[in-house]
Amino acid sequence: MKMTLTLLAGVLLPLSLSAAPAAAQEPISPIRAAVVKSPAKVELGKKLYFDPRLSKSGFISCNSCHNLAMGGTDNLKTSIGDRWQQGPINSPTVLNSSLSLAQFWDGRAKDLKEQAGGPIANPGEMAFSHSLAVDVLRSIPQYRAEFRKVFGSDGVDIDRVTSAIAAFEETLVTPNARFDKWLKGDKKAISAQELAGYVLFRDSGCVACHNGEAVGGASFQKMGLIEPYQTRNPALGRAAVTGNDADRFNFKVPTLRNVELTYPYFHDGEAQTLEQAVDVMGRLQLGKRFTDDETAKIVAFLKTLTGDQPRVTLPVLPPSTNATVPPKPF
Ligand code: HEC
Ligand code: HEC
Repeated sequence: MKMTLTLLAGVLLPLSLSAAPAAAQEPISPIRAAVVKSPAKVELGKKLYFDPRLSKSGFISCNSCHNLAMGGTDNLKTSIGDRWQQGPINSPTVLNSSLSLAQFWDGRAKDLKEQAGGPIANPGEMAFSHSLAVDVLRSIPQYRAEFRKVFGSDGVDIDRVTSAIAAFEETLVTPNARFDKWLKGDKKAISAQELAGYVLFRDSGCVACHNGEAVGGASFQKMGLIEPYQTRNPALGRAAVTGNDADRFNFKVPTLRNVELTYPYFHDGEAQTLEQAVDVMGRLQLGKRFTDDETAKIVAFLKTLTGDQPRVTLPVLPPSTNATVPPKPF
């Protein structure tokens, strides 16, 4: 028994040595816990995030498509919007989205505040208008009181609404992933299989695009760099924003934090499993065909990126009043 253990250790040792220089040299860095600047603003933002009255139907909230019980996504190929409309693109996670260089697959919103105004007025999502959403909130005295507490006066406008939602979203980070513990020096935090997967991920070149705190989110890159990506989804990527043909099929590199929870994958939601996504990435982005064993190792590593999920207590939303315009679900 002792012999086997020594032997195992002997086999593992050179691997972990070569794979584990000081964490500071690794292209991935641990997620830092969120610093809450204004708890009252975060609390208000949380209410708005969960409030379906920001939608025309009174049924769809941010949490409908970015469900915080499911890794901040809807786990659907593309989202379902107002009147069961089929969405055009996969819903990315809101977890750690504060770490991204811009918001949306094509980066058309510069930050979370700018992003949050989008879905409320999008006919295919919440299908409301900013002025109607603001009217609903104004008709509810408890909301007015909360806006006063947070912003110093009880004026409700879309700027304040999106600013509060963004403050809540900034708290949705996921520290303490097992991989982060490993980065910080706890060598037992990941298994030999997971470590081998990380070494493959790093040394094959995945880290050229998936790096930093979010393991992505830091650049726009071509989908189908070596081999073209075939899809029926009409999204143009970054070209839709810049109008530059060279940006066609450039998408924001998604974060791989919590990727175990955020299936299906890619902007069109076409990859159902992590194995598929890793295989496509290897071939299309790097010109590499991983063996099943290599793919399994990389997938095992990716699952070590699941961090502490935000422990969100469901807010109790203030009730509508006689003055609140009723929702129109049908
Ligand atoms: C009907 C489904 C739906 C609803 C409701 C919805 N979203 Fe989204 N959300 C999406 C989809 C789909 C995208 C990707 C759109 C794109 O990139 O073109 C997205 C993108 C985002 C992003 C960008 C993430 C990233 O990595 O780029 C954030 C942040 C976000 N939504 C937050 C919100 C907030 C806040 C609300 C509520 C005000 C909300 N969403 C409501 C479906 C939805
Ligand atoms: C040249 C840049 C680049 C390289 C190299 C790269 N990726 Fe990606 N990765 C992307 C982009 C861009 C996307 C989004 C593509 C899309 O949705 O159309 C993506 C998406 C993914 C996704 C899906 C995430 C999601 O939420 O949808 C996974 C998983 C992934 N990559 C893993 C890997 C692995 C593993 C490697 C190495 C084998 C790798 N990537 C190499 C740019 C890259």
